[in-house]
Amino acid sequence: MVRRAWFVWGNQRMYNAQTTTVSETRRRLFRDEGTSLRTEPSPEAFPCLDFFAGSGLVTEGLKDCFSVVWANDICPKKADVFCANHDATRFHLGPVEDVRGAALPRAVLSWGSFPCQDLSLAGAMSGFSGSRSSLFRQWLRVMDELPEQPPIAVAENVIGLISAMRGQYYRELHAALADRGYSVGAVVLDAIHWLPQSRKRVFVIAVDRSVRTDDFDAGAPVWCHPEPLVRAAEGLENRIWWGLPEPLRSAADIESVIDFSLPCFDRERLDRLLDLIPPAHREKMMDEASRGRRVFPGYKRTRRGKQTLELRFDGVAGCLRTPEGGSSRQYVVIVEDGKPRARLLSLREVAALMGAREDYKIPGSYNDGYRAMGDAVAVPVTRFLASELLFPLARRIREKQRKAS
Ligand SMILES: C[S@@+](CC[C@H](N)C(=O)[O-])C[C@H]1O[C@@H](n2cnc3c(N)ncnc32)[C@H](O)[C@@H]1O
Repeated sequence: MVRRAWFVWGNQRMYNAQTTTVSETRRRLFRDEGTSLRTEPSPEAFPCLDFFAGSGLVTEGLKDCFSVVWANDICPKKADVFCANHDATRFHLGPVEDVRGAALPRAVLSWGSFPCQDLSLAGAMSGFSGSRSSLFRQWLRVMDELPEQPPIAVAENVIGLISAMRGQYYRELHAALADRGYSVGAVVLDAIHWLPQSRKRVFVIAVDRSVRTDDFDAGAPVWCHPEPLVRAAEGLENRIWWGLPEPLRSAADIESVIDFSLPCFDRERLDRLLDLIPPAHREKMMDEASRGRRVFPGYKRTRRGKQTLELRFDGVAGCLRTPEGGSSRQYVVIVEDGKPRARLLSLREVAALMGAREDYKIPGSYNDGYRAMGDAVAVPVTRFLASELLFPLARRIREKQRKAS
């Protein structure tokens, strides 16, 4: 049963989140809860732990609502990116296996974007028996060791988490969180709502069961609960269908992130690349170009033993990936005045497709940077989740603690 107060409000709030700032959203939240408008809370108000923090895009997306007081990753190159953009004193380089929860600061939110390679359709798919995706167990182990369990926990991963093995991996994660006293619900969010990139990710949001969540519970699956998730979550205990306002799809086209002045491949390399485009795609590309579309992103793929370059015609980049994910880097063919040219997406373009701000620093080589961005969580997606759900929940938790003390 859909709870009217939330859902009607949710439907009325269909908006293009790209043009709505977090503070606007938050101001509305203050009003909606009957609280008079007041100064924005200090970012210090809600401490957060960022596990598997990589290049820091989760920290970036959370920062208007949560202050990351501790972050960890094993990769020195990603650590360089994190530390170039965030408080380096909070970052701890090393394997999560070596982290002892008792030494960590108190936090309201524990975020774990655990490695996806074993759940990725492009990878080997060894699931939770794989050495990387099974690291979510380390995240849980560290949380068990904390002096105080964070009242909110979020695990993020690829769609394979809910679709592989008919949802078995999701059910294991759900049960592990429910056993720790949380109400648990997942949502699937696609970066395409905010950015010209198709990038669906699963966010498993767990909230201490003592916290009132009825007004955030849609009571039944809504737009952010696709069929595989509904199937995976069928019959689970302590389940919640988080109700989130449905954002309109972003109107931004990939053209908006493309730097048309960058150098492209030389004639020989261009011809080799164009030869890989299937004839039907080539024809469509020239047809679309004659009607004004200038940018066609694509990945090289092997089809029946033959390498091809398959293009997209919808103004959206394909999901950025890491080489470990089993896929390659993304190309763009640019057609102007009937003449095609081509190159790889630049690092700045890749960062823009992830929603990183223009001055987000990406030290290191092209490949390092591409890997760091391809592995990350798109900034506006985290920001949306933080402002629409995690922040109001954190505020409620603080109120509850204040009343109790
Ligand atoms: C999906 S990515 C997380 C991306 C990050 N949240 C972001 O937005 O940039 C998973 C991360 O887990 C890290 N990782 C893999 N094995 C690890 C381990 N044993 N201990 C800590 N971090 C690990 C990887 O380096 C990678 O950055």
